Amino acid sequence: MHCASGRRISSNHRCLHNLMIETFDEGGDCSRPTKGRDMRFAGKRVLVTGGARGIGAATAAAFLREGAMVAIGARTQQSFDVFLTKHQGTAKHQGVKVVPALGKIGSQRQAAAVIEQAVSALGGLDILVNSAGYFAEVKVEDVDQAHWDQTMDTNVAGTFFCSQAALPALKESRGNIVNVASDAGIIGYPLGAVYSASKAAVVNLTRAMVLELAQQIRINCVCPGNVDTDMIQQAAEATGDPATYLKAAHDRSPMKRMARPDEVAEAILYLASAEAGFVNGAILSIDGGGVCGF
Ligand SMILES: NC(=O)c1ccc[n+]([C@@H]2O[C@H](COP(=O)([O-])OP(=O)(O)OC[C@H]3O[C@@H](n4cnc5c(N)ncnc54)[C@H](OP(=O)(O)O)[C@@H]3O)[C@@H](O)[C@H]2O)c1
Repeated sequence: MHCASGRRISSNHRCLHNLMIETFDEGGDCSRPTKGRDMRFAGKRVLVTGGARGIGAATAAAFLREGAMVAIGARTQQSFDVFLTKHQGTAKHQGVKVVPALGKIGSQRQAAAVIEQAVSALGGLDILVNSAGYFAEVKVEDVDQAHWDQTMDTNVAGTFFCSQAALPALKESRGNIVNVASDAGIIGYPLGAVYSASKAAVVNLTRAMVLELAQQIRINCVCPGNVDTDMIQQAAEATGDPATYLKAAHDRSPMKRMARPDEVAEAILYLASAEAGFVNGAILSIDGGGVCGF
């Protein structure tokens, strides 16, 4: 049986009061039997930029556990190797491959090269997670061109151009994108003017791209509050008083703690899953209530 778009459907359709609801198994052959929650991504091809560390690594590991083949975006082979050493047992157990997609993503050319590696190694792409990002605290008066460029190039240009380069493969698979923005894209952060602007750009490019592409792919966005990763640890070290910085990071959330990377990963997997098939342009806060107010 074929659906309206010519794609084949079988076990993934339901009849409700004579209405045929076609539930696509996104990004692949929609005739595949539905898997249980624990293997939601079996057979899916996933690229996680910034996939070797922090939120990206937790996300990539979660996809592996649920049966996906995963390309890890990393700037160096060494960064990829650290991830591989930690997670190759999971990949082996699940019978899936983990491949590198090496290079920076700060320009259209760099992003296209990273996407090309992933698409060729995986034979296509079902899901792109744009997690690579750069953060450093700088006073407004001290922002220089280098800080502006590194923040905007990595967070905005990288997210946009990776998505652009992945579009042909994602349209073919009817796949989806999850962007990793930040609560700083919704509220301002002191010493974070450029970072906040870059993450607000990620939030709104998510929405604008949905309006253009909703017939073909879904695009969603997560906005974590403080997450316990190298990014926060490095920002804390840079102040010279990490304990005070980390206490403030805990206190900023009404839940008085930071998120764990796996808590953000779980939300990303939900948005990327077929269960979120009608969720498009969502800006999902994962901040313990941090943007609710003071
Ligand atoms: N941690 C937080 O509190 C927090 C809160 C809200 C949002 N976020 C966002 O979450 C995302 C992940 O952050 P994280 O906390 O997991 O940070 P992290 O542990 O510092 O990891 C950052 C990742 O980004 C990659 N990266 C940085 N610059 C890059 C570039 N120019 N080209 C390609 N890759 C680059 C790094 O690659 P290498 O492996 O090569 O180093 C690394 O994998 C970022 O977008 C960040 O803004 C973080």
